[in-house]
Amino acid sequence: MSDRVSPGNRPTGSHPLVAHVLGARPNFVKAAPVINALADGAIGTGQVVIHTGQHYDERMSEIFFRDLGLPEPDVNLEVGSGSHAQQTAALMIGLEREFTERSPALVIVYGDVNSTIAAALVAAKLHIPVAHVEAGLRSFDMTMPEEVNRRLTDQLSDLCFVTSPEAIGHLAAEGVPVERTHFVGNPMIDTLLANLAAFDTEAVRARYGLPDRYVLATMHRPANVDSPAVAGELVNRLHEIADMTDVVIPLHPRGRAVLLAAGLDDHPGLHVLDPLGYIDFIATVRGAAAVVTDSGGLQEETTILGVPCLTVRPNTERPITITHGTNQLVTFDELVPAARKALGQAAGGPAAGDRTPPLWDGQAGPRIAEVITRYLG
Ligand code: UD1
Repeated sequence: MSDRVSPGNRPTGSHPLVAHVLGARPNFVKAAPVINALADGAIGTGQVVIHTGQHYDERMSEIFFRDLGLPEPDVNLEVGSGSHAQQTAALMIGLEREFTERSPALVIVYGDVNSTIAAALVAAKLHIPVAHVEAGLRSFDMTMPEEVNRRLTDQLSDLCFVTSPEAIGHLAAEGVPVERTHFVGNPMIDTLLANLAAFDTEAVRARYGLPDRYVLATMHRPANVDSPAVAGELVNRLHEIADMTDVVIPLHPRGRAVLLAAGLDDHPGLHVLDPLGYIDFIATVRGAAAVVTDSGGLQEETTILGVPCLTVRPNTERPITITHGTNQLVTFDELVPAARKALGQAAGGPAAGDRTPPLWDGQAGPRIAEVITRYLG
């Protein structure tokens, strides 16, 4: 596990201040290497971590800070849950107050959650430059709230940090000036590689009573879990997979009630767990025979771990995980046959070196820190 950033890296009056805005689980994983690399940097950039409180349960938030060695947030806005408008409005009001009081030289936002767009919008209106980590990914599906957040955040960003080459073209096609775009690699993979030794599959098997062979499933997209009818369909398919091999599902709070009401755990081979922390979760993924998911980040993590990944979505903003990795998009109808096939294949191993997506090498954080240092210098 990474070391915590020491208080010596807290902002001082003489250094430009960068504000990291973090709200939801995937933000924490992406920010850790950037915060660490900036803390190591030569110019001694001051850093503040603003936790918006979009995710607030201990298992959705604090456990990630501990696992990743992230510094304690300087402030937690505790915005909590709500409709998109309610949540985004609360985020904007809290962030405007923080940015006004702290006057950061740069606001760094991560990924595609509501905290990301809220921070970019507030910073832009206050004329504070914005850096977007994981810019340019596109599903071209505007029914996903994340796609709306991505597109708008990129329009507002002065530095667009790109994880995958096709994102450069997406940004150019939307008129983002090329000098704003920096292809730096994938900080989520920095975190994965930095913690490889900590992912102990035997330990998690023992701790959670998992069988030797299992499929790991995660489901939380509104399109899959909000409607009882759709969730019921999905539960039937997961039961069919559990007829073949046990299924382990750490359950995100979104959809928990709907999935359980649809009978998710009414199958002896289906193991419902509470949400897991980062280290235990990736250890569980590493030990899985296959993964079934609708997550964005997990498509990338399975690519590096070499675990077959079936993504239950009609599209992905991460096509490189299909061309270079282990990912496959499946409909509900395709899910069970695809799982059968994946389970029949030999166990995976790490992605072959020449298939690893370019710059997914554990050095994205230092590359981002270098660009930011130059920019602020
Ligand atoms: C958010 C992101 C999504 C990301 C996901 C990662 C948006 C629009 N969506 O989705 O892109 O993939 O995080 O996990 O920003 N809840 C709790 N405890 C918590 C957090 C949430 O119980 O700590 C429940 C609440 O009922 C809440 C619901 O989950 O209403 C949804 O939370 P929210 O943050 O709005 O969206 P996510 O589905 O988590």
